[in-house]
Amino acid sequence: MKNLFDLTGKIVVITGASSGIGVQLAKAFALQGANVAIIARRYERLEVLAKELEKLGVESLAVKCDVSIEEDVKNAVASILNKFKKIDVLINNAGVASLGSVDEISEEEWNRVIDTNLKGIFLMSKYVVRNMKENSYGRIINTASVCGIVGSKNVPLHAYNASKGAVINLTKGMATSLAKYGITVNGIGPGLFKSEMTEKTLFKPENLKIYNAVCPMGRPGKEGELDGAAIYFASDASSYTTGQTIFVDGGFTSI
Ligand SMILES: NC(=O)c1ccc[n+]([C@@H]2O[C@H](COP(=O)([O-])OP(=O)(O)OC[C@H]3O[C@@H](n4cnc5c(N)ncnc54)[C@H](OP(=O)(O)O)[C@@H]3O)[C@@H](O)[C@H]2O)c1
Repeated sequence: MKNLFDLTGKIVVITGASSGIGVQLAKAFALQGANVAIIARRYERLEVLAKELEKLGVESLAVKCDVSIEEDVKNAVASILNKFKKIDVLINNAGVASLGSVDEISEEEWNRVIDTNLKGIFLMSKYVVRNMKENSYGRIINTASVCGIVGSKNVPLHAYNASKGAVINLTKGMATSLAKYGITVNGIGPGLFKSEMTEKTLFKPENLKIYNAVCPMGRPGKEGELDGAAIYFASDASSYTTGQTIFVDGGFTSI
């Protein structure tokens, strides 16, 4: 029987792969036989990860790039295409969070969050979609968040809420008009996962206690618990699914 989840030889690009969820996804895709190009600003970390991925028997490319800067993105996509000749899967995962209410956040901080989490997806998609259209094939997966559809009463994250809400509807917009080119666009909305972004804030005992009390599963996500959704959206298993954001959140957004 055909393995619907087979990713052997696919070219997967993952942004935000120098820490946290991006690192985990890069390893998960390499274990499925995909070649993985990894993007972030901290190049030294990417180089270490690329070597680890190659030990799993796939090809990897580390690319230093700030996803909020168009010239960086243009050059990054060009260097990936130079090595791999095509891009099958784009995972727009790079992101930053910023605590604060609208009356506290500086304009600079607002722009940093929106430019990374939203404009970064626009820019990466802009250059990658051109190649996907030529191949009449593509899978784009945007990392959204539960914070894109709900607020958080105790820890205000207003710029982050705005950016992730926009990611969810950008996903739908792209999905509807790119379907005719064989490109699907879906999102993953994680609940709470331990990473550089969350370990010193939402994982503080007092905040974790609140999350666990609200979350039906009573706990944050564990390493690897986003892999299944990402592999589903990247593979033929999801060939008739587009515009969807799946919340991998222990039921957090279902209450
Ligand atoms: N952890 C959670 O609970 C959670 C929940 C919901 C959604 N998310 C989302 O999941 C994604 C990954 O976050 P994480 O939790 O793994 O946090 P993380 O460990 O802080 O990772 C964020 C990644 O994004 C990269 N990045 C940030 N700004 C960038 C830029 N301008 N250009 C290129 N890369 C950039 C960082 O690399 P450099 O600093 O090296 O550039 C890093 O690799 C984010 O989109 C986040 O919003 C996380």
